[in-house]
Amino acid sequence: DWTMGAYREEAIRKIREQVGTERVICGLSGGVDSSVAAVLIHEAIGDQLTCVFVDHGLLRLGEAEQVVTMFRDTYNIPLIHADESDLFLGALEGVSDPEVKRKTIGRLFIEVFEKHAKSIGGARFLAQGTLYPDVIESVSFSGGPSVTIKSHHNVGGLPEKMGMKLVEPLRELFKDEVRALGRELGLPVPFIGRHPFPGPGLAIRCPGEITREKLDILRRADAVYIDQIRKHGLYDDIWQAFAAILPMKTVGVMGDGRTYDYALALRAVTSVDGMTADYYPFTHDFLGETATRIINEVQGVNRVFYDCTSKPPGTIELE
Ligand code: XMP
Repeated sequence: DWTMGAYREEAIRKIREQVGTERVICGLSGGVDSSVAAVLIHEAIGDQLTCVFVDHGLLRLGEAEQVVTMFRDTYNIPLIHADESDLFLGALEGVSDPEVKRKTIGRLFIEVFEKHAKSIGGARFLAQGTLYPDVIESVSFSGGPSVTIKSHHNVGGLPEKMGMKLVEPLRELFKDEVRALGRELGLPVPFIGRHPFPGPGLAIRCPGEITREKLDILRRADAVYIDQIRKHGLYDDIWQAFAAILPMKTVGVMGDGRTYDYALALRAVTSVDGMTADYYPFTHDFLGETATRIINEVQGVNRVFYDCTSKPPGTIELE
């Protein structure tokens, strides 16, 4: 792709110019954006870059292992795997307000990055895979008055005291362009095609209070749902699909017993940039089969809903 080839050269030049001989740490989430940012920055400045992958305890099943393996083994990019699940889940205990959740997570991310910036001998720059829609959605919505819909934790400047500057080489790009750049950089195709996953992770797919029990149920249900979508060959037709665990239990019957378990919402949308989205029209057969599989395979769930809200008025995530 000619355009992306040129973008790549220009971005590399700008990164070198911005950081000079300083050290950079890059927050890696395992998603496409931060991965493309990391590979691009690594190409520009080599081992001046250290990636920090923060496991906040809000990742999906098997996600931490996958990310660490890919970056250490495939790319040989220096990577710190920070297991901070106790820190994050501890701070989120009893928190149910969506904005408080996001702000808490954002604050802790900064604390953890700060700690590791020091541990590698003083990084002056923090790199993030912020995209253009992240930038605009944080300040305004659909040309209307300036309203913050959600505080994306990876946008909006750093606290002064951190004394670090941001490196955001994808700030002018939309998702499809980031994927094109990823292909240009030679990232594995299945990886580039991964659905977006938000920085606050499963926290915003667990409306209400977050508990380890709920996260565990959610992780297992989400894995079954994604497996269903892949088995039916639908993964690449969908912008993003995930399960969310609802803050309620309902009554059901299984065998000859009464159950009182969690309800799940399944979400799947099509979109070009995440700014607007349509719910995905699964067949009734697919939905029925998926609900049955989840209830049979995941203990703690006895009811499954399908979210047929488009954006607007719904957002893609539940919080
Ligand atoms: P919403 O829920 O705002 O999501 O319709 C739009 C897209 O953005 C992702 N998203 C986030 N990504 N940090 C991120 O890195 C965040 O705080 C965040 N919140 C939402 C969401 O998954 C969807 O792709």
